[in-house]
Amino acid sequence: MPNNPIFVTKPTLAPLEEFTEILNGVWDRGILTHNGPLVQELEQEVCKKLNINHFVAVTNGTIAIQMAIKALGVKGEIITTPFTWVATLSAIQWEGCTPVFCDIEPDTLNIDPTQLEACITPNTVAIMPVHVFGNPCDVEAIDLIAKKYGLKVIYDAAHAIGSTYKGQSLLEYGNISATSLHATKLFNTAEGGACITKDLELFEKLKRIRFFGHDQKKAIVEEGFNGKVTEVHAALGLANLKYFDSVLKDRKAKYGIYKDALSGFEGISFQELKFGGANYSYFPIIFDSEEQLLNAEQLLNKEKVYPRRYFYPAVNTLEAIVTYKEMPIAEDIAKRILCLPLYYDLKEEEQEFIIQLLLKLKNS
Ligand SMILES: Cc1ncc(COP(=O)(O)O)c(C=O)c1O
Repeated sequence: MPNNPIFVTKPTLAPLEEFTEILNGVWDRGILTHNGPLVQELEQEVCKKLNINHFVAVTNGTIAIQMAIKALGVKGEIITTPFTWVATLSAIQWEGCTPVFCDIEPDTLNIDPTQLEACITPNTVAIMPVHVFGNPCDVEAIDLIAKKYGLKVIYDAAHAIGSTYKGQSLLEYGNISATSLHATKLFNTAEGGACITKDLELFEKLKRIRFFGHDQKKAIVEEGFNGKVTEVHAALGLANLKYFDSVLKDRKAKYGIYKDALSGFEGISFQELKFGGANYSYFPIIFDSEEQLLNAEQLLNKEKVYPRRYFYPAVNTLEAIVTYKEMPIAEDIAKRILCLPLYYDLKEEEQEFIIQLLLKLKNS
């Protein structure tokens, strides 16, 4: 039995000396923020790594979503998924828009494109799907519907860095994708996020919005806010970026180990990775009932293993901030889904320990 508690995730961190070496330059230059050289270097290096053109680093993933809405200048109803983190919802509302929920597919856990058209009203301005757990949405079907009705598409790609669709970074789909570089994400800058777009004009606009609406000459040309990233966060990103490929590879291997070991387990199922290209950033299991989930959680917690009910509850049920509308599939899945510990430092014996605990449940 491992000595320490095993949490659902643990940040991937480059060796401290690699981080401090980059920080030496920050101290020498005395530049801490305002699109400093490390922020620019981080953006360029991420573009190279993902083979994308434009990556605007910002303070966090929530701000990235808000900036995407602001940059597209939309006001009205935004169709989104009830199976997400509350930030998707709050970002829409903070931008003065109204979230309209569209239920999910029970297998991929992503927004169901076949239900989208029924959610469109004269007030609809955009669709905001989430690539849940880094699993690509049906981007082509969503694109077709958006084009048919003249809607913008903003992907909440908080989980999706490193995911691909037809061999291309998933972050390049939609008008803008917003990703998170939070400590728990596959690639992190402690707190952080980014907007990704293929559109050069939108790219320039996003950079202005990030910097109070300033243009290059420092005139205020539009409404912006402070979304700037510090050099310290960028330094951490640059240190961690060196490990990006090995983290991706490690996640896939550990995902495979869980999947192989738990595949014959009657009473649980897995998210369907319909289009391939997932980054394997999470390992969710879906129990047949909430009762089974609670039993498993209790058993694991007793042994100091702490999986996470994620996403739970479905956000359409958060009546403190939205008016409830029934979303049967998302609400049902949210009650039965549990994410198992999965991170770079998770040791082989720890993963085996978790598997054995779950298998005990199967045989009980
Ligand atoms: C689906 C989703 N959207 C948005 C966010 C917000 O990202 P951040 O924590 O970087 O603000 C998260 C955070 O985990 C998330 O899971």
